[in-house]
Amino acid sequence: AQPKSMRGIKLLISAGPTREPLDPVRYISNRSSGKMGYSIAKAARQAGADVTLVSGPVNLPPPDDIDVISVETAQQMFAAVMNHATRCDIYIGAAAVADYRPARMQEHKIKKHMADSVIELSQNPDIIASVAGLSAKPFVVGFAAETDDLENYASQKLRDKNLDMIAANLVGQDEGGFDSERNALQVFWPGGGQHFAMTEKNHLAHQLLNLITEKFHEKNPA
Ligand code: PMT
Repeated sequence: AQPKSMRGIKLLISAGPTREPLDPVRYISNRSSGKMGYSIAKAARQAGADVTLVSGPVNLPPPDDIDVISVETAQQMFAAVMNHATRCDIYIGAAAVADYRPARMQEHKIKKHMADSVIELSQNPDIIASVAGLSAKPFVVGFAAETDDLENYASQKLRDKNLDMIAANLVGQDEGGFDSERNALQVFWPGGGQHFAMTEKNHLAHQLLNLITEKFHEKNPA
């Protein structure tokens, strides 16, 4: 399909993992490479959108002509996203945000004799649910990374987080998900759904954006 124009649309997108420091040399994180989110950011720019990308630590070059805000922790990502959320038309949460952070960051490197000690965790803010809770909320698209029962968990997140759409992907498989060049998506919105078969993330990004643009215009008729 021809890419739908996104000219005039302000898109805010998060990508990559967050890092939650334990001490000056260690952190808790996850396997996100940022490839899915960066592919969407680039595809949206190609379609004419004005794109702001809030990125966790990744090994990808900053895309041309996109405003990139680099963050490390979930709390920093929360602050950066909330700072831009009221000024965007569409928010896509492709980042793999750590749900928990160490309750205290140790000032000095944790020593070997403490290896059996317990790490206390505190819950991080839910960024996408906070965006979806704004009174002037943008069109909000979440991702769901699941190892099984994709449809159930994704539909639950769509409802619980009050999202307009959710793109669910399987992780922990041989192909697709984290750190792969390819991915497949099962997309849900209230009252409907669509499957996108395994393909390059760059191609998948265009397919997903066409669907998002269509649903965005249905909700916000000119
Ligand atoms: O980066 P890649 O290597 O290319 O891999 C892509 C991906 C698998 C990371 C991506 O496609 C993906 O699924 N991203 C979301 C991963 C995730 O954290 O899913 P979740 O089911 O835990 O979270 C659901 C939604 O809530 C997501 O939109 C997430 O960004 C958001 N969230 C979660 C927790 C939190 N504290 N704040 C959030 O905003």
